[in-house]
Amino acid sequence: MRYGYFDDEEREYVITRPDTPLPWINYLGTEAYFGIVSNTAGGFSFYRDARLRRLTRYRYNNAPFDLGGRYLYLRDNDTGDYWSPSWQPTQSELDAYECRHGLSYTQINSRRAGVEARTLYFVPVGETLEVWRLQVTNHRDTPVDLSVFSSVEFCLWEAQDDATNFQRNFSTGQVEVVDGVIYHKTEYRERRDHFAYFACSEPLAGFDTQREAFLGPYRGFDRPAVVASGRSTDSIAHGWAPHGSHQVHAPLAPGETREIVFLLGYWENPRDAKFDPPGSQTINKALVRPVIDRWLRPETVAEGFASLREQWGSLLGGIQVDTPDRDTDRMVNIWNAYQCLVTFNMSRSTSFYESGIGRGMGFRDSNQDLLGFVHMIPERARERILDIAATQLPTGGAYHQYQPLTKRGNNDIGSGFNDDPLWLIVGTGAYLRETGDSSILDEQVPYDNLPGTETPLYEHLQRSLKYTLDRLGPHSLPLIGRADWNDCLNLNCFSETPGEPFQTTENRDGGAAESVFIAGLFVLAAKELANIADYRGLGEEAASYRTNAEKMSGTIMEHGWDGSWFRRAYDFFGAPIGSGENEEGQIFIEPQGMCVLGGVGLEDGTAVRALNSVRERLATEHGIVLQQPPYSSYRVELGEISSYPPGYKENAGIFCHTNPWLMIAEAMAGRGDEAYHYYRLINPSARETISEIHRCEPYVYAQMIAGRDAPTFGEAKNSWLTGTAAWNFVAISQWILGLRPGFDGLLVDPVLPSAWEGFTATRRFRGATYEITVRKPAGVTGRVEQLLVDGAPVAGNQVPLAPAGATVRVEAQIG
Ligand code: BGC
Ligand code: NOJ
Repeated sequence: MRYGYFDDEEREYVITRPDTPLPWINYLGTEAYFGIVSNTAGGFSFYRDARLRRLTRYRYNNAPFDLGGRYLYLRDNDTGDYWSPSWQPTQSELDAYECRHGLSYTQINSRRAGVEARTLYFVPVGETLEVWRLQVTNHRDTPVDLSVFSSVEFCLWEAQDDATNFQRNFSTGQVEVVDGVIYHKTEYRERRDHFAYFACSEPLAGFDTQREAFLGPYRGFDRPAVVASGRSTDSIAHGWAPHGSHQVHAPLAPGETREIVFLLGYWENPRDAKFDPPGSQTINKALVRPVIDRWLRPETVAEGFASLREQWGSLLGGIQVDTPDRDTDRMVNIWNAYQCLVTFNMSRSTSFYESGIGRGMGFRDSNQDLLGFVHMIPERARERILDIAATQLPTGGAYHQYQPLTKRGNNDIGSGFNDDPLWLIVGTGAYLRETGDSSILDEQVPYDNLPGTETPLYEHLQRSLKYTLDRLGPHSLPLIGRADWNDCLNLNCFSETPGEPFQTTENRDGGAAESVFIAGLFVLAAKELANIADYRGLGEEAASYRTNAEKMSGTIMEHGWDGSWFRRAYDFFGAPIGSGENEEGQIFIEPQGMCVLGGVGLEDGTAVRALNSVRERLATEHGIVLQQPPYSSYRVELGEISSYPPGYKENAGIFCHTNPWLMIAEAMAGRGDEAYHYYRLINPSARETISEIHRCEPYVYAQMIAGRDAPTFGEAKNSWLTGTAAWNFVAISQWILGLRPGFDGLLVDPVLPSAWEGFTATRRFRGATYEITVRKPAGVTGRVEQLLVDGAPVAGNQVPLAPAGATVRVEAQIG
């Protein structure tokens, strides 16, 4: 069952009924001012950091799920009938409804009793404000006496404090209304440098800034007293709950359309701003007013929207493909790329499943996210790499997370996730392949952000690799630390007394448990560092990294191979995990993927055996589950993984992040049908027709789909912010379609499903544009046999670098 459709021309997903199984959301903003907007206008906004600079309030865990947002109310003053043009929160019946989620904008269109409302929400490029453009049309043949009410609930900036510290916060709220603009100027503790404003293009019939006055006692957003009565109260909030609501009187003649613009914005004063009188922020109202006036003009709004669309057109132009499969095309060309940029901005911090207060930017997450967006915004990828590296510890270890506003490592979570540092090599390698910009390696970057500790970035990479080598366990495999990629496999957590509650060794560098996954990642990273060293002309050093990689591959085969698949780990006591010897958790997906990505066993057929085991034991019709059989009870020596019910999350859920590793591994093994089959299983667009089962948005990946051991097999959860986005993009574009950036050229190495007869693509790479045609007889699989570059044959499968600005015609024939 569907709840909408893809409009590929417009690059929009169109939701055709408001009651989707879950809120289907979108993101506003591309740089500093961001918001989440649902298909019923729910959500909230923040500036840079969803915890520290939250503009509007949102209550998670609410019922209904999605309540609170950028609401408008229309009121027919003749009948007293009022409704939400976005359906929520009044849930009044609408004669027509559609929500168009586009790239960084959302438009909700609806109609009731002959009144059509079209509301566009977006954040103009380069601004710290959001626009709501309401176009309201009277389709009746009689005049309608309409009032429009807006509504936002302000958050007192620090979202965690806002949700908990009521004894203080009920007394701190401050607003001011000047010339029709509502200023929310509650100060967060000692800070006096920012405020929010909410403005409207029309003369006001009234306003409200105290939530209780707007809603009325014991009333909710579904029937605000002010809207019901048709009269704002001009309330000024002193403490309690600062709110923003305008009332506009908008009588409409038959056929008449009116456009009303609302602006919600953030303003930050210069540090040394002088206030007159002190503390008044008056000076800044003078500064902000011109910005408000400009954006309240319909022409500015129209231009701003057009340039946002243009910006997206050019970002997506980095790669466009035309394949026999529409679901592939729209994910590669539009939605997967879009999701990659959203994860670049949000990491794992802010969605409808991540509250924005729990997590900052993950070290491993951000490095992997890079893989998906580096081709679109290389300069920002560069900056991101340097930011991440600056949080690295002198040991080569890493804070697991850092806060986006301060860019400092997060001490609450600390370090000791032993895979973290290796991802910096993978991320930097991707940047170098895409851009060729080796100058980044010479950038002076501190450790733990401490001045005086700077070394070239290259040394950070060296220390990353050494971090693993310095921490090998009893089988010479890497120590796992607190956890590796699988946060929930906590093998150094145990209780001396069986049955005792969960304990952790907090043994960040120690603990005896070892990870085969990290071993595989190490092989991959060591080879990549060797490539980087070669690129720098350090041949000898490169050779030594290759030796490290080979040695680790040997260790994997000696201690990490279980006979038909790679083992997962050794626990604290030296027993294998992910082995036929285990009763539960016999085979895990991660090492099968990562060892093969590292190239382990590819030459002697071991890799293929592991891949076959995955197909037999882990693959399902909704994707590949993380492990089998699931853990049926909590086991303190395994940690959080065993705390999940079977089939969910890391306990045998389809943890989508890992699936592309298998797609890539299959492609590396030359098995195009298998790779593509796995790709389609979790492709959200390909799952659109089962939206009632999948339940999450059909235009973006979710972190998890319930596995076959769960009663809700096939149900997705935690959409949007997941490494799944970047890795699927890599799997399809670089390995299945095979357009892979190399250090010295663009590799064309497709591994296609046998039924295909080829595809075409445009890929921008280092300033040149490659127009690529791949041909293949139907029914065969195989690799590139002949490569023509501008008509001339080239040996191998690498297209040499063309000068910037050039357009290069590439034809590849697969045998
Ligand atoms: C989740 C993991 C996640 C971790 C982050 C766990 O509860 O299951 O997927 O990585 O929390 O803290
Ligand atoms: C989500 C986390 O953000 C990521 O870092 C981790 O690898 C996966 N969960 C698996 O546990």
